[in-house]
Amino acid sequence: MRGLAKVLHNAVRMAWLLGPSILGQAVRYAWVRDRLEGRPQEPRWQGVGRPLGLEPIPGGVRVRFLEAELRAVFLGEDLLCLAWAPEEALPPYALAEPLEPFEPQRLGEDLLKTPRMALRVGEEGLELLDAQGRLLRREAYPQMASWGAHRAWRYRVALAPGERVLGLGERAFPLDRRGGVFRLWNRDPGGSYGPGEDPLYLSVPLWLSLLPEGGYLAFYENPAEGLVDLRGEEGLVAFYGGPFRYYLVPGPLEEALARYLRLTGLPSLPPRWALGFHFARWGLKTQEEVEGVVAGFLERGLPLRAIHLDIDHMRGYRVFTVDEARFPDFPGMVARFRAQGVRTVLILDPGVKREAGFPPYEEGLREGVFCRLPSGEVFQGPVWPHLAAFPDFTHPRARAWWGEKVGDFLENGVSGFWLDMNEPALFAAWGEPTFPRGVRHALEGQGGDHLLAHNLYGLLMARATWEGFRERAPEGRPFLLTRSGFAGVQRYAWAWTGDVESTWEGLRTTLRALLGLSLSGVPFVGSDIGGFSGNPSPELYLRWFQLAALTPFFRQHSAFWTRRREPWRLGEEVLEGVREALALREALLPYLYTLAWRAAREGRLLLRPLFLDGGPYTEEAFGLGEALLVAPVLEEGARAKEVPLPRGVWYAWGEDRLWEGPGWVRLPAPLTAIPLLVRAGSALPLLEGEGLVLHLYPGMEGAEGVLFWDEGDGEGPHREDRFRLLPAQGGFRLLWEAEGAYPWPWRELGLRLFGRRLRGAWVGGRLLEAKEGRVWLPPFEEAFLEVVA
Ligand code: GLC
Repeated sequence: MRGLAKVLHNAVRMAWLLGPSILGQAVRYAWVRDRLEGRPQEPRWQGVGRPLGLEPIPGGVRVRFLEAELRAVFLGEDLLCLAWAPEEALPPYALAEPLEPFEPQRLGEDLLKTPRMALRVGEEGLELLDAQGRLLRREAYPQMASWGAHRAWRYRVALAPGERVLGLGERAFPLDRRGGVFRLWNRDPGGSYGPGEDPLYLSVPLWLSLLPEGGYLAFYENPAEGLVDLRGEEGLVAFYGGPFRYYLVPGPLEEALARYLRLTGLPSLPPRWALGFHFARWGLKTQEEVEGVVAGFLERGLPLRAIHLDIDHMRGYRVFTVDEARFPDFPGMVARFRAQGVRTVLILDPGVKREAGFPPYEEGLREGVFCRLPSGEVFQGPVWPHLAAFPDFTHPRARAWWGEKVGDFLENGVSGFWLDMNEPALFAAWGEPTFPRGVRHALEGQGGDHLLAHNLYGLLMARATWEGFRERAPEGRPFLLTRSGFAGVQRYAWAWTGDVESTWEGLRTTLRALLGLSLSGVPFVGSDIGGFSGNPSPELYLRWFQLAALTPFFRQHSAFWTRRREPWRLGEEVLEGVREALALREALLPYLYTLAWRAAREGRLLLRPLFLDGGPYTEEAFGLGEALLVAPVLEEGARAKEVPLPRGVWYAWGEDRLWEGPGWVRLPAPLTAIPLLVRAGSALPLLEGEGLVLHLYPGMEGAEGVLFWDEGDGEGPHREDRFRLLPAQGGFRLLWEAEGAYPWPWRELGLRLFGRRLRGAWVGGRLLEAKEGRVWLPPFEEAFLEVVA
């Protein structure tokens, strides 16, 4: 749905849900905002000219221009920071690491080199070279303009033929961003979006270049409004305020992303339950309805690990309240769910109802935590509770206040929070659905406007919530889900892709948004299964479910105006497919948890476009970790899937059948299963019933795998188990090395072998025979797997 039709649809829904007065508020708000913002003009750009002089400084060089200055400083052999002055400095919210200059080799005053990269300062611009001296990037010196109270910057970056540009956060656009123009401005598209919508909720000014021989990463540490235009043969990058400061990291991209994640903060290790299936639905209005849904899953033996409560649980959409008439025993309900293995996650919207006598509003006023207009008045905008005030999360006091409220709310027994509307979003009848750009923010005391703080709002709401959670429940790992964010948000929260339409294009768009987020350093991502805003056909629902089962965050959600879609309402075949996908997800838990730990420890991505591991550029398949290749079905009626397989040998999931790459293959895709391949050489730790079974998929050199395990929450001891399968006469040797203080939590270890038939396993001189393809062994250091000749 586009344009006017969408506006009218939204208006009717809003009026129906919130009463007709909300429409008047949305009109009034848009009018006031337009008056405050005035008319936009085009900046009058002026080039900085040519370098007037170079001077060595610690770690790099200072380059003087007529009215500007560049400081190029290495912060490691693979990290170069370029900072332009005059600088509109901002607190370094995105960064996690203190940085020290790194001394490069100086090969003349204009050529600086480290073992990984080099910088050449030219007459017209800069060149970034790799260790072999090959050109990675050429950029022109920038232009500047004054832009209201700000200084705007822009420049051109040369693009090589065949170069792909990826990243930029969540986009409803092919992963290769060339050919598009993208705003760096977090935005709620309003209830539904499909392909081509730009911008979306979570932009990250991170640019990845994929070149035939490697590539590089550029990260702009600037939250101000910006633009990246990749329609031509050069890229254009512009920021309308904020510091013009950026970092360059040479490829390979996997390593560059890990470097970026160390710079902006590694994701925290999630509690293990969060890797299970979550269910949400806007419109579950009573305790009885919520309990009915949870019981529906449990009675059918469908593993549900978390239930999310949307805005319906609140009293008149007042944040930090529960409507006790509709949820008469909220803490009791949450406790019963927990006893049944189902965690409760609660939505939090930043808007605080403007209402005399409402304690959070009164308190917030007293403590001065709300955003203000330039006049000094508290800013207010219409959102779910009608007019609301908004905490200024760029103020430490506001963060502490919010964190305390979050802490109080934890007493209800909830296990996590779902942070919504934090672009920030509000209801405007036309134009930008957010604060006017002139709204004031504290920015840690230095002061600034919304143009600078807008993209930080989601990041800092997540930070405040995380800190509050940590403070009150230090023994647990916070689970937060956010819609908006900025570079660094991965330290605090997972992200979901918002209100996508329930169409096949919506499904494809979702995959792009997920992979784009992953490539932008947000590794824990997921989508609303079936799409948010419409009614998916049973087939679309099932294909979406299957894809989501193989993405980090696995949740079903839908809008109140859509038909109910608990899996048992969609026919036997769908239920069967859902059962299979859920069983697959449950089995994968040890593998996924190990991936989560590697993301938290090393900055390795879970969702991996195939080119990260040496495969082709494609959107038809992706890696889940390095061992699995997922080929989601994105077309109606398809019962086979064509995929460009990367080099190597691949097994069909759970089978002996092999496929060989590189080259296109056609994989069978019956309705109840998603095409899934395993890289030969993998040893996958999986759950089967109560036991842990190692699935061995040998390649020419055997197989390898790791398992990370612990209590599943908190900071207690953990263990790492490393398995190595080595081909030998008549079978395989299997070596098992364990590390860490957490005891082996299973009685035995099960083994399954693919590609060969397992007769049994020898441990300590004893042969244990395989039954139904599995053999169970007590913990060992070395075993011999005997195969049927
Ligand atoms: C926004 C969210 C959606 C939620 C709704 C009501 O549209 O994106 O997930 O259900 O608000 O809270």
